[in-house]
Amino acid sequence: MNSSMLSFGQFPQKRMRRLRRDQFSRRLVQETHLSTDDLIYPVFVLDGKNRTENIASMPGVMRQSLDILMVQAEKCLELGIPALAIFPVIDSDHKSLTADEAANPDGLVPRVVRQLKAHFPELGIITDVALDPYTSHGQDGLIDENGYVMNDETVAVLNQQALMHAQAGADIVAPSDMMDGRIASIRNTLDSHKLIHTRILAYSAKYASSFYGPFRDAVGSSANLGASNKYTYQMDPANSDEALWEIGLDLQEGADMVMVKPGMPYLDILSRVKDQFRAPTFVYQVSGEYAMLKAAAMNGWLNEESCVLESLLAFKRAGADAILTYYAINAAAWLKREL
Ligand code: PBG
Repeated sequence: MNSSMLSFGQFPQKRMRRLRRDQFSRRLVQETHLSTDDLIYPVFVLDGKNRTENIASMPGVMRQSLDILMVQAEKCLELGIPALAIFPVIDSDHKSLTADEAANPDGLVPRVVRQLKAHFPELGIITDVALDPYTSHGQDGLIDENGYVMNDETVAVLNQQALMHAQAGADIVAPSDMMDGRIASIRNTLDSHKLIHTRILAYSAKYASSFYGPFRDAVGSSANLGASNKYTYQMDPANSDEALWEIGLDLQEGADMVMVKPGMPYLDILSRVKDQFRAPTFVYQVSGEYAMLKAAAMNGWLNEESCVLESLLAFKRAGADAILTYYAINAAAWLKREL
């Protein structure tokens, strides 16, 4: 007779609720943990001084000039947030078909990086490598006469952009453009300039998602993009195996970290990626996810703190090592209070 036969007829056979009864034992059996160490704060930076602009579709998030961003950066350090991700808002007179401003060594991003690193050397700085803030059409790359985003021509500009970010002191360059071969090409460019320590965070499984809408408002690319889309380079939300293929290639090409994006609707992808490769895997809780949580919270329909922390913990459970979230500062403050 085995034990399951012994207990046959008893009810319930096994009491799962025993471990959940008291807080001490819930804490002991908790499988995953969310910590401030996991958070990356994405910020929108503007040229000029003492400027802030609200973003209608992202209440609580602002476009800000560098002097104001410095205060935010200090706050991140105080709270223990390891890194900032910088997204520039480029004036329309600096946008062009050829995105030349993207590789300007005195452009907004290198100036911001230099100043942040000079004042806060221990704060990790991540820069976005993609051309959409700089193109007059809002695509992430250079287009041909039919509007098709040209791969190899775009990669050539991305190389210049990444090199310029790294030379300004960026710790991590993060190509979010989804061109083929850009990771190997950027690694090669960085190495040939002796920038062997600059890490590459590859947006490898980046989907053509409608959840990026508020971000495109924030950086001002949505009007330029108009009715066009990014289906010829970002991934089809219907695909899952293809994400593994993309991640495998980027790791082979030299990515130090890979990203899945968006976050919450793509937890299955995150989980498969982590299971398959065991590499540092980041996830982006994108602007549309922020907007949904914020809107519900503002209406009193959801409890903001508990829903946000639950959404972030769910990323950890699914396999994320770090999370880009517009809630980073709030979450860090909530976590601190919970200690
Ligand atoms: C563009 C880029 C996008 C985001 C980060 N980098 C938008 C896009 O691909 O159109 C989206 C982030 C967000 O929605 O929060 N290179």
